[in-house]
Amino acid sequence: MRSIRIFGSPGLRSVSRDVDPAADASLLGELLPEMDRLLTEEEGIGLAAPQAGENIRVFILETSMLPSLCGHRVFVNPKLEAYGPPSRREEGCLSVPGIYEPVTRPSLLRISALDPSGIRFELELDGMAARAAQHENDHLDGILFVDRLGALRRKLLRSKLQKLAGG
Ligand code: NI
Repeated sequence: MRSIRIFGSPGLRSVSRDVDPAADASLLGELLPEMDRLLTEEEGIGLAAPQAGENIRVFILETSMLPSLCGHRVFVNPKLEAYGPPSRREEGCLSVPGIYEPVTRPSLLRISALDPSGIRFELELDGMAARAAQHENDHLDGILFVDRLGALRRKLLRSKLQKLAGG
């Protein structure tokens, strides 16, 4: 059984590799149900593969909370194009428990990705779905939402983050 990597884990800071849907089929077959289980147990809105211990370019989003996803739950090798006026809203992360901070991101998103069987789909997102997809995609590049805060907020959070990292 997999568990969620917490802030301080080096795997959260790696750039993840692309998935080969054929060669990685057995890995995805094991990983995706585990990611589903973790996301449901933790009542999160999204989870990226690096958080579940696998540095590959996959994330999942909770479709019941995000109807604009049209049922697309799994995003493999996603390509994002964020645009539009910035919006600011509180975010949290299952890998950074207990910390919730407003993050500024572009409000609109074009996303192209593969589904688990390797079929490409595209979506135009706004609101919470656009934000959640950008947050999860950041994980694939080793970026956490706390990296996107201003210098002062980061400074104020430093001791909390050090505690999470066990230092
Ligand atoms: Ni996160």
